[in-house]
Amino acid sequence: MDCQPWMTDQQRAMTAVFAQPAERRRSMPPNAHQPPAPQRARVSSFERASIDEIRRHARRLAVFATAVGRHIGLADGDLQRLRTGSLLHDVGKTALPPQVLFKCGRLTAEEFAAVKYHPVIGDLLCAQVPGLSALRPMVRHHHERLDGSGYPDGLAGDAIPLLAQIVGVADVFDALVYARPYKPAFDADHAFSLLRREVDLGWRSADLVDALIAIVESGEADWLSTVASV
Ligand SMILES: [Fe+2]
Ligand SMILES: [Fe+2]
Repeated sequence: MDCQPWMTDQQRAMTAVFAQPAERRRSMPPNAHQPPAPQRARVSSFERASIDEIRRHARRLAVFATAVGRHIGLADGDLQRLRTGSLLHDVGKTALPPQVLFKCGRLTAEEFAAVKYHPVIGDLLCAQVPGLSALRPMVRHHHERLDGSGYPDGLAGDAIPLLAQIVGVADVFDALVYARPYKPAFDADHAFSLLRREVDLGWRSADLVDALIAIVESGEADWLSTVASV
């Protein structure tokens, strides 16, 4: 898939800045990635498609995550927080260039580092909005791993909030059963085996992965219709 035709002048400018070595970028003016104001106001169809993709992923994830939360007996308040946190978990990605987020080829080390920063950006965005403090741990920590090898803070074990762990498991499942630019959609059995591998590697909670597999297998979360309809 060739992403270039969708790029706006702003995205081209951002990409050009992003392609510079970090030392050179730091010496550039803060608005170097921005074209003149009239062009800044434009939102391209590619940007809209990018935000829409992030939103649909979040809505699917909210279905899976709240079903897991219900399965393990979370109270109503936590379920509500889990649902809203799931919807917001990748809000930081909206600040990243779509051509990086949805790049067809392999990310460079620098692009990958930028993508890995999205939980921090999301947390900073949520910190600006009164009433979102209870959701910030899910936004910031959904890519942590139980063995401490995740990001952005390298939290391990119980230091990773439970709701963030649930979002993390549901996030991986959605990434597996839904097509991405770099991979096809996997069927549920393949997704289950890859999730179980993450348990074996010490990255995910066996209880949460078992809960997700149980709700999908029982039909409690109808992943096929969720994937098709959201
Ligand atoms: Fe994420
Ligand atoms: Fe996500």
